Amino acid sequence: MERTEHKFPAWPQFCEQSYTDIIEPLRSGKVNYWTGKKGKEFEEMFAAYSGAKMAVSCTSGTSAVHIAVSGLGIGPGDEVIVPSYTFIATSFAVLQAGAIPVFCDTSTDHTIDPAKLEPLISKRTKAIIVVHLYGVVCDMDAVMAIAARHNLYVIEDSAQCLGGIYKGKKVGTVGDVGTFSFCQSKHFTTGGEGGMVITTNEEIGWRCRAFRDHGFDVKKRFDLLSLEEESDYVHNSVGYNYRMTEIQSIIGINELKRFENWNLPNRFRYAKMYDEALSGMKGIESLPLNTAERQNAYWEYPVILDLNCLDTDANGIIMELRDLGIPVFKIQWPEAYKERVYREHNGFGSARFPFESKEYTDASAADYTTVSCEVAASLRSRTLSLYLHPTWEEEDIRICIDYFKKVLAKHTIR
Ligand SMILES: Cc1ncc(COP(=O)(O)O)c(C=O)c1O
Repeated sequence: MERTEHKFPAWPQFCEQSYTDIIEPLRSGKVNYWTGKKGKEFEEMFAAYSGAKMAVSCTSGTSAVHIAVSGLGIGPGDEVIVPSYTFIATSFAVLQAGAIPVFCDTSTDHTIDPAKLEPLISKRTKAIIVVHLYGVVCDMDAVMAIAARHNLYVIEDSAQCLGGIYKGKKVGTVGDVGTFSFCQSKHFTTGGEGGMVITTNEEIGWRCRAFRDHGFDVKKRFDLLSLEEESDYVHNSVGYNYRMTEIQSIIGINELKRFENWNLPNRFRYAKMYDEALSGMKGIESLPLNTAERQNAYWEYPVILDLNCLDTDANGIIMELRDLGIPVFKIQWPEAYKERVYREHNGFGSARFPFESKEYTDASAADYTTVSCEVAASLRSRTLSLYLHPTWEEEDIRICIDYFKKVLAKHTIR
């Protein structure tokens, strides 16, 4: 097989309107959330798009999860259950809040396995974070039922799932809080970094907003500048500065405007092409889940290989495809508990907080050397991910399909 010289279009690519719109705050000097109007406009648009009561924009998907965890009042002494199979930021946000992440295995749909949650719940558990990985929507009813039984919050880390729908509701509005990332590779980016927190509960929303903004007095509600005029002392609780800039918000507004009529429909069209070309093919065990109840947002297109039929594994196929000029990605971090930060308790400061603070942690919960998420681990050698960027054309997808099928066929042994 010959290496293709085809040039795949780049992602991200910004809406033309943004190139002119971002000049205005630079000229007016109203470049920050509190002096300009665009931050609030982006939040209102995003809340309306999601069907949420409130949206709180922020600097990243990581700060979004940190805000969500802290906005729910979770901190030192608490445990939060997270899938081991996700980007490190999900569990790091729990640590940043001073709580202990407890890792749960996933199903072969790449999302948290509700059947494995209950044995992980302890007297310290306060929440479950689900991750709609690759755009695959979690089995939310099962998770919500367990959370209700044990009085736990549910956070939906939707960094990879903007536009996903669970039983008619946008992801992020099924649990107590939903979080999103607008980092460079995501469904869209607000200029490199960015994030959003959404909720259908206004009290939680205001606590999140305060945490994003130096912990101002949430009872006084929104306008920090007039609050500061009113009193010298308006900071009631600890908080951060996790605000998005006006330039980022302008880019976000323009990307959200074309999300449902350009970005998402292209992803759906390309997912359908992959589905039709690859379903039932020898060497493939499963394609990404997409049902009427769990509508996939197709950030990427993960394929699980059937290694019984192949003479190589996912890594072998990935390397060969890359040598042939085809963009393809490996599995996304199935076993976070194997990271040295967890194994060696490399937490904050010499106290290694929170891992080794006896008053806040049960030693067994922080012993990551005994954790084993077998399904997630088993997916490492079997999973590869194809792309479906909205800037691509059908021809780009056809080339990926063609090469993938040929490489797979070459390695099929029975
Ligand atoms: C599932 C998940 N959660 C959280 C994040 C963190 O987002 P950010 O990179 O914007 O901080 C990411 C980013 O890749 C992610 O994939």
